[in-house]
Amino acid sequence: MSKMNNDAGMPIALTLDPGVYYRCTCGQSESLPFCDGHHQDGEFSPIRFEVKEREKVYLCSCGKTENQPFCDGSCGVDLP
Ligand code: FES
Repeated sequence: MSKMNNDAGMPIALTLDPGVYYRCTCGQSESLPFCDGHHQDGEFSPIRFEVKEREKVYLCSCGKTENQPFCDGSCGVDLP
């Protein structure tokens, strides 16, 4: 189960450098959309993902995607 920040209900477009990232799912992070450890007293766990080369990613913020943490268009947005 995940609790996304779905205020906008649209993907969050970010250009990320190679590395390992953790997508916040509890909504309590002060570094959204990334985890900062606030989930530790709750039921949520961050979603780990890796970026192999610098690229633009679209992180889901609506919670409907079946490809967490990435938007799959279930929100109705046409991805480029
Ligand atoms: S933002 Fe959730 S599927 Fe697009």
